Amino acid sequence: RGLRVADKGFLNTAVITSEITYIDGEKGVLRYRGYPIEQLALDSSFLETAYLLIYGNLPTKEQYHVFEGEVMHHSIAHQDTEGLFRAFRYDAHPMSILTSAFAYLGSMYSEARCFHFSHALLKMIELNIGHRPTRLCKGSRYTRSKATTLAAMAYRIRQGRKFVTPPAGLSYTASFLYQLDHLGEESYTPSPILAKALDVLFLLHADHELNASCTTVLQTSSSLVDPYSAVAAGCASLYGPLHGGANEAVIRMLISIGSPDNVPAFVEAVKRREKVLSGFGHRVYKTTDPRSFIIRKTADEVFKVTGKDELLETAMRLHDIAMNDEYFIKRKLAPNVDFWSGLIYRAMGFPLDFFPVLFAVPRVVGWLAHWRQMMLQPGGVKIWRPRQIYVGPTRRDYIPMEDRV
Ligand code: CMC
Repeated sequence: RGLRVADKGFLNTAVITSEITYIDGEKGVLRYRGYPIEQLALDSSFLETAYLLIYGNLPTKEQYHVFEGEVMHHSIAHQDTEGLFRAFRYDAHPMSILTSAFAYLGSMYSEARCFHFSHALLKMIELNIGHRPTRLCKGSRYTRSKATTLAAMAYRIRQGRKFVTPPAGLSYTASFLYQLDHLGEESYTPSPILAKALDVLFLLHADHELNASCTTVLQTSSSLVDPYSAVAAGCASLYGPLHGGANEAVIRMLISIGSPDNVPAFVEAVKRREKVLSGFGHRVYKTTDPRSFIIRKTADEVFKVTGKDELLETAMRLHDIAMNDEYFIKRKLAPNVDFWSGLIYRAMGFPLDFFPVLFAVPRVVGWLAHWRQMMLQPGGVKIWRPRQIYVGPTRRDYIPMEDRV
């Protein structure tokens, strides 16, 4: 009642107060818990930043040690999970597999639904006190720990390869690379340069405030469902080509363009609205996404090891033409996080449809940071139930089928 205008696409609706991520879209500023993304990308690591996002401050040595141990410890998947992975077709999209895998974990820990979530309970969960709270704690802890393992299982099942237990003694991303590609040789160690590059990419993707997938996670969690189901919903939302699927879409677009010479014609087709320039534009940024500068630099580090990607020239030409074209300038369209990241993943040898998974794995941390913040809100959680403006028929009477024309 009283509603006159629908805010389609939530252009101007704030649904929560948050202390996690700050974005100034006009100036191209991104900060996690106050720290500039550039500083974190240079000096921090994904796991340290994960702690920062979830708990609000950088960890002490001791806190980091405990956190790292816990994440690594819980990363092993329950044996029963393997049966789920074997049920997928060989060509299933790995994002569908990942989404299903998180939902499946929800079925294993259905008691993780948070019937009476409160500040006190969350404190107990974090201190690991009591039986039921410990079960609940599995929801958030396991979810963030299991992401790489489930992703690696989705990767290997499609290649008909055996699953690999996460190894001890490697960094988070080196362990992930090991799980993906380990062929059974004792001496296999992922390249430290590639592991570091992936770590930077994970850090940059860890959170981005209320994007579509994070909103989905919070919307889903507002009914107090278990965090596994909420993360599965987040994965489903992220999968779309306008969001986390854009890194895959960028590479498909560059392949379809074919060569730098074809870029001007492609740009004209975009301006006629026949094509979309994937990896450009953002709801919040009205200038270049600050993450894309860091990713561009990281790409050069990776190319030193892997060799340059053959699509790089086309991407650079596309970037330069679009950035100087009136159509894009007027609409404030600039590269977003996905424009360059796909080139790195391709150079590292990941299959194209695995790219969105590489976005989802670190983003689980951001989702859970927001989940935790919402659960701790003073006054508890309010179910997210937006309103609509009804524009359908007014009252009318039922007509039996034989009388309808
Ligand atoms: N190519 C061509 N035109 C575009 C593009 C693009 N990539 N993005 C926006 N526009 C145009 C759009 O047609 C509109 O023009 P007009 O005002 O003449 O109708 C104007 O720019 C404003 O765009 P919008 O659609 O109102 O912007 P939005 O905030 O609703 O959508 C977006 C944001 C990211 C969905 C959109 O820019 C897009 O589709 N980009 C391509 C997909 C992509 O790269 N997604 C990744 C986003 S960043 C990472 C993430 O969050 O996952």
